[in-house]
Amino acid sequence: MKPIDLGEIAILTSPNPVTLVCTELPDGDTNLAAISWWTFVSYEPALLGIAMLKTGYSGERLMATGRCLLTVPSVEIAGPAFRCGTVSGRDKKKAAGFGIELQAVEGSKIQAPLHSRLIVDCALQERIETGDHYFYICRPERAFADEGKVGLFAWNGYGYLAPAIRADKG
Ligand SMILES: Cc1cc2nc3c(=O)[nH]c(=O)nc-3n(C[C@H](O)[C@H](O)[C@H](O)COP(=O)(O)O)c2cc1C
Repeated sequence: MKPIDLGEIAILTSPNPVTLVCTELPDGDTNLAAISWWTFVSYEPALLGIAMLKTGYSGERLMATGRCLLTVPSVEIAGPAFRCGTVSGRDKKKAAGFGIELQAVEGSKIQAPLHSRLIVDCALQERIETGDHYFYICRPERAFADEGKVGLFAWNGYGYLAPAIRADKG
């Protein structure tokens, strides 16, 4: 073992999970943000946590509406999904601007990328302050999956999005 910079931790945990957080814009359109810091935080009751920068727009929209869709983008939109992590929804309509086709989600006012492996419809339960991020604890209420789609992960820290391949499967 050798000492490493703390910044390298994310590289050594790669591939990391990634979700496109979908929130409702004031005009009813959908905002998309790439977020790697998301996880289950309780099984019973089921609770998911997402850490988002205090300055990000998705957190503001989540607070305003109390709802989000947590989606796992699939391989067809690897490039556009990554770009959703490089610009704020305050400045750009990301789905239209990056060519991400959206689909309606049963029971939700928010849309999700058509190319999604997983869609989880969530209600905000609580927001916790954590340094430069807020940690949003959400209750998953409904989930939809297309297991035929290949989901994306963040590689080289948060450097690019690509599928994960099981080394033990050859
Ligand atoms: C692969 C990847 C992972 C990211 N993970 C996070 C994250 O976990 N939390 C966060 O606050 N921002 C993360 N970002 C950065 C946000 O996506 C970025 O700040 C984005 O502009 C936020 O958009 P919004 O202002 O529309 O919410 C990530 C970006 C990329 C490319």
